[in-house]
Amino acid sequence: MKKIIIANFKMNTTPSEMKGYSMTLATKTANTKNQIIVCPPFTHLSIAKQFLDGSKVTLGAQNVSDAEKGTYTGEISASMLKDLGVEYVIIGHSERRSRFKETDRMINRKIKTALSYGLKVILCIGEDLATRGAKQAGAFVRKQLDDALKGIYENELEGIIVAYEPIWAIGTGKSATVKDIEKMTALLRKEISSLYSEKAGENINIVYGGSIDLNNYKKIISLPCINGALIGGTSLDVDNFSLIARENY
Ligand code: PGA
Repeated sequence: MKKIIIANFKMNTTPSEMKGYSMTLATKTANTKNQIIVCPPFTHLSIAKQFLDGSKVTLGAQNVSDAEKGTYTGEISASMLKDLGVEYVIIGHSERRSRFKETDRMINRKIKTALSYGLKVILCIGEDLATRGAKQAGAFVRKQLDDALKGIYENELEGIIVAYEPIWAIGTGKSATVKDIEKMTALLRKEISSLYSEKAGENINIVYGGSIDLNNYKKIISLPCINGALIGGTSLDVDNFSLIARENY
């Protein structure tokens, strides 16, 4: 089954390292049916574009401004990313929500801006340990999803991948269990069905992220309930990421 395999470098690696990474990944994944998206830091995007051109790999950014242009020192706009040949953008990663105080409203605005410039969105949602402990995880991610998708039309959903990333599983070496993933993706599909239509719930692309490594990737990514994976730490090694990206699921 064809899957979507996404690399999120976070704030790691240098632009000069991107050339070798891109060339190796392009070669090693030349025959895969999977869709591969690499999201390096902004500074790496031009180099990545240059060396991934003509390959199976598409390019994503890790963030985008909700504003279109103007007096926003330090920000990067959707039109800048589009002009560079970027196709995807991660929006609402938990690290941005917690460290940079991104709210659901801001995330909703970012999604609308990104879509209006023809960028596709990887929307991250997920609960923390306390919320899970209080048995509120379902209600919490449902609200994150509802708020993020406010004012988004059904026909725009094909430009959105939902990434379920429980915060307690990110970078901890302890991924969610198969049962956790099945339960949460079923809940998310149901929510999309009630917001839009049954068909929308079936068709929405949902990926899982959080401590995917060489030991657990097969079991997780093969799950029929998910369309792929968002991989942080393990994606930094190009050999390891290529192995996961070209696997037949
Ligand atoms: P991780 O990160 O694979 O290192 O847990 C996933 C993510 O935050 O996207």
